[in-house]
Amino acid sequence: MLVESPPSLTSEQFSRLAKIVHDDSGIVLTEAKRGLLMARLNRRLRVLGLSEYGAYCTLLSSPEGDEERRHMLSAVTTNVTAFFREDHHFDALTRQVLPPLIEAARKGGRVRLWSAACSSGEEPYSIAISVLEAFPDVARYDLLVLATDIDPVMVAKAEAGIFTEDAVQGLDPAKLSKHFTRAGNAYEVRPALRNMMRFAELNLHKDWPFSGQFDVIFCRNVVIYFDGNARRLLWQRFATQLNSGGHLFIGHSERLDGPASAAFRLTGPTHYIKAASDTPR
Ligand SMILES: C[S@@+](CC[C@H](N)C(=O)[O-])C[C@H]1O[C@@H](n2cnc3c(N)ncnc32)[C@H](O)[C@@H]1O
Repeated sequence: MLVESPPSLTSEQFSRLAKIVHDDSGIVLTEAKRGLLMARLNRRLRVLGLSEYGAYCTLLSSPEGDEERRHMLSAVTTNVTAFFREDHHFDALTRQVLPPLIEAARKGGRVRLWSAACSSGEEPYSIAISVLEAFPDVARYDLLVLATDIDPVMVAKAEAGIFTEDAVQGLDPAKLSKHFTRAGNAYEVRPALRNMMRFAELNLHKDWPFSGQFDVIFCRNVVIYFDGNARRLLWQRFATQLNSGGHLFIGHSERLDGPASAAFRLTGPTHYIKAASDTPR
């Protein structure tokens, strides 16, 4: 039997794809990632009925290529995540960040928390669980958790709110039974959590559709894939998008750098506060 070998990606084709990925998302793919990219994209070529990467590059660069560029980004992103990952951030959220925000919400204020690279949802649901435990009557007030990601597959997964046994394994059993219901072999988030959440596809590297400011931004374990310029620009945009006194949480191996660092002060490990202006909330 003749077994067809999978198409291979030349160095020149890899450079073209890496440039598209970088221009679209800020993600840097070094030549060392060529094999990984090929392994991840071969499935896309099969789905599209293409036998070689030259045709794939042509498709991506054509006016019809927009949809496929989204698929390619979905294939190149790394979506590793977990409930209450870096749990010291959630301790800080509960003890330091939420009490004044809950007070503001009870007085009629608008409170917004944003998980800016939410992957399959474990991070924003961990935020929402922290909120609900501190603020059980949250549904009566104007507090929302926004969960966004560049990867439409992940956003759909997050919005579905259904997690495998493996995904919930590290979750405190009390939280699991309080906030999830069993759905066959899986666990589904209860409506009380979902009702305070909104989900959307959003590329941090492109325009943002927001009309208002945020009080808290989680953007963890994503800028590690960006180049320095994309990263520093993102910090500046976060500084603009946060209220004075707002909180920014970033990943354990990430650091705030560039001009935006002057707008923030470090208050805990990889936890920053936007310097208060004359009119703190
Ligand atoms: C490693 S996961 C981190 C998930 C979560 N924040 C955490 O720390 O557990 C990185 C996520 O960043 C997303 N991502 C990568 N580039 C992005 C971009 N330009 N805009 C928005 N999300 C992006 C990926 O799709 C992926 O879901």
